[in-house]
Amino acid sequence: MNIHAIPCGYLQANCYIVYEKDGGDCVVIDPGYKSSKYIDFLSEHDLRCTAILLTHRHPDHVHGATWLSEKYSAPIFMHKMDAAGFKGHVDYLLSGGEELELAGLKIRILHTPGHTEGGICLCFYENKTVFSGDTIFDIDLGSTAFEGGSEKDLAWSCKNVIDKWDDDVIVYPGHDVHASMKYIREHNKEFIALRDGKQR
Ligand SMILES: [Fe+2]
Repeated sequence: MNIHAIPCGYLQANCYIVYEKDGGDCVVIDPGYKSSKYIDFLSEHDLRCTAILLTHRHPDHVHGATWLSEKYSAPIFMHKMDAAGFKGHVDYLLSGGEELELAGLKIRILHTPGHTEGGICLCFYENKTVFSGDTIFDIDLGSTAFEGGSEKDLAWSCKNVIDKWDDDVIVYPGHDVHASMKYIREHNKEFIALRDGKQR
């Protein structure tokens, strides 16, 4: 499985293009901008975008979704609780717990509220890879200061979802760099605090 990150905008939100091989299908995660960088990469690698997955509804993660979807006739997937606050169209409303097969890749949808009500992590379990949106980063957690954010929900997600991941799972966040769960368990003080029922 190939993963290509394209950070865009002043917040450098990561759009990820995930695919098995050049010349095949791919999924695009969080196209936050109407950026030619996405299109250029897809054409350079002769990739066909077959699905667009949105981790949550914040503009820096979704703003390019409808635009990209129309270009490739690719359906958009999003959690139903975040779709309510999203101005574009959504083709598949998710609840969490779904097992999808897109572009030949198996993906489990994990509902991880906290940063937003309908935040999800995308678990490509055959490759021990998770795309975490703004729920968790390498050394901290996403903010809960925006509308719909909840420290209590984020603590629930840390304890009941994220802490179940093995040490060798690699987490690709919505901003900044990827990290293993082993690294996160050792260095992410905010995760450790919320998981253990404390405040960050
Ligand atoms: Fe966000």
